[in-house]
Amino acid sequence: MGERLAVVSGGGTGIGAAVARGLVADGYDVLIVGRRADVLLATAERIGAECGRADAVSAMTADLTDPAQLAGVVEAVGDRSVDAVVNNAGGYLGGDTATLAGTAAWWRANLDVNVLTAVLLTEALLPALRRPGGWVILLSSIAAQRGGGGPYSAAKAALHGWAYDLAGQLGKEQITVNVVSPGYVADTEFFGDRMTPEGHAARVAATLVGRVGQPDDIAAAVRYLVSPAAGYVTGQVLGVNGGSVLGR
Ligand SMILES: NC(=O)c1ccc[n+]([C@@H]2O[C@H](COP(=O)([O-])OP(=O)(O)OC[C@H]3O[C@@H](n4cnc5c(N)ncnc54)[C@H](OP(=O)(O)O)[C@@H]3O)[C@@H](O)[C@H]2O)c1
Repeated sequence: MGERLAVVSGGGTGIGAAVARGLVADGYDVLIVGRRADVLLATAERIGAECGRADAVSAMTADLTDPAQLAGVVEAVGDRSVDAVVNNAGGYLGGDTATLAGTAAWWRANLDVNVLTAVLLTEALLPALRRPGGWVILLSSIAAQRGGGGPYSAAKAALHGWAYDLAGQLGKEQITVNVVSPGYVADTEFFGDRMTPEGHAARVAATLVGRVGQPDDIAAAVRYLVSPAAGYVTGQVLGVNGGSVLGR
């Protein structure tokens, strides 16, 4: 068992899996949480094998939009302290705006998956967060800073305001709270079958560095923010987007 524990939501795929792998390389034990047990277990097994620590990653199945399902996550943590909570679960959900009821359902779904998942996981684990020295990370999106995603943009932007409050609340306990805001990242399930070659090319062209982001680009930012090197960084939004949105 490692000395430090991180909980990574959405850790079975994409950016979350890269964060989990990076944190294991940094010596963490990692609990990954998502809705699909088979995906989580396969990722846990793969990372364990790649990092030579078979038991480094454990998996817990939970729909983090459902308050009743948080008890299982708390139970999986047990009596260990949690050093880092990485709220990565989220995504863009489509909807039917033909009626106001459809519009309401669309907005609620995006707020649930991008905001409530983070709020409920963080609140559930707050008592277990290491004091002093815990870290909370919220995964936002470039869409929060430049629009383009309707309720997804709005939901991610909501995380920024909440992060500032949480950073204020927890700062005196030496717990930092920061937002990582990725640009376009390939090799995840985020776009499903929505991405076209033209859409891909346009997003790459919008960067200053002329390339698509990889999950490891985002994981590197998270690894920095949950390290002692970032102890004086809190209440910040770190854009990792190849320069497609300039600092704001
Ligand atoms: N890829 C990009 O270009 C990009 C850009 C900006 C921001 N982001 C953000 O980065 C984060 C990671 O996304 P990704 O690109 O790695 O996409 P992804 O592969 O689709 O990862 C999303 C993860 O969230 C989990 N998840 C979704 N709803 C959940 C729920 N209700 N409860 C628990 N887990 C849930 C999913 O697992 P299950 O389906 O098994 O639950 C999945 O593992 C997201 O917050 C996304 O909005 C991505």
